[in-house]
Amino acid sequence: MNKENIITINGQEFSFESGETILDVATRNGIYIPTLCYLKRATPTGSCRICVVEVEGAENLVTSCSTPASPGMKIKTDSPRVIEERKTILELLISSGNHNCLIQDLDQQEWTDFQLKSMEIKGHEQICPAYGECRLQDLAIRYRVKPRFRPKESEYPPEENPFFIRDFSRCIVCGRCVQACNEIQVNNAISFGYRGAESKVIAKEDYPLTNSDCVFCGECVQVCPVGALVPKSVITNKVLPNEVKKVRTTCSYCGVGCQIYLHIKDNKVVEVTGVEETAPNYGSLCVKGRFGYEFINHPDRLKKPLIKENGKFREAEWDEALDLVANKLKEIKEKFGPDSIGFLTSARATNEENYIAQKFTRATLGTNNIDHCARL
Ligand code: FES
Repeated sequence: MNKENIITINGQEFSFESGETILDVATRNGIYIPTLCYLKRATPTGSCRICVVEVEGAENLVTSCSTPASPGMKIKTDSPRVIEERKTILELLISSGNHNCLIQDLDQQEWTDFQLKSMEIKGHEQICPAYGECRLQDLAIRYRVKPRFRPKESEYPPEENPFFIRDFSRCIVCGRCVQACNEIQVNNAISFGYRGAESKVIAKEDYPLTNSDCVFCGECVQVCPVGALVPKSVITNKVLPNEVKKVRTTCSYCGVGCQIYLHIKDNKVVEVTGVEETAPNYGSLCVKGRFGYEFINHPDRLKKPLIKENGKFREAEWDEALDLVANKLKEIKEKFGPDSIGFLTSARATNEENYIAQKFTRATLGTNNIDHCARL
């Protein structure tokens, strides 16, 4: 072990690679440090400060996500001073907006004045759509934080677009969405606007997202640690995270093979999220992959083949439709030769299905006229 690249965390020595932060070394070695604004694959901003740790000899606590490990550092991740600081940060964050989740389940007799004030906030009766999957809620429970300050009412009304809701009253201005938009998707559609307690994530000069450079990839929704960015379908279907079954599958919109989770409630897809731990997309998706799933249960969706007769379509069974197509192809091939037929396959089909289509075209029909919609 190269003695120069050693740090001590909670009395144990660990080696580090050049460029690693304290958080990187701790996480790699199974030492838990809470994070909120930290976003893998993006530059750490150190803005929420929940990841603070104590470094021997340093006057102030440092943010572990943005402080590089350096030789000889002696770090404490859970000292009383660290815990106290994290609790204060959580109290401030919970007081920064509409975070009523911690009081929903309590017996009203036990409520403090603060909690009663929280329940006066407009919309308090609606349970947060991120309930059970909110990192702020998790941390408040973990550190047993009781709200101490009067919650602040948001000055900004919620904003709606065709795909998701931006609820500024639940935003903790951690900046993960800004990092995801600018550094991961590189769309540069959102940034911080205003100052101090009025800070807000804005698009252009605070335009609605629909009038901005946003392409609605939903990367911001995926990384939001609280209930500030939530897909519309989750709100309209009143879905709570613990009510869905997640099924992992491959997005079928193009050939990239993005890994997705379908969130299913009552046998219907109510949300799609990217799988973060794996290639090729590491959680990222495009607008179609993330939001284009309504066709699955749409009433206009064709579920049976249609055969046109006397200018009108009628529903048919698959056997009848396949026999008809097979006979027509046979007829055309016999009359005009195999090269009079051409096949176009689809980017929406799987590689295996496209392989079968070319095999059928070449081996069964006897022509090389096979192409793919991605080339059109
Ligand atoms: Fe480190 Fe927010 S996670 S400052």
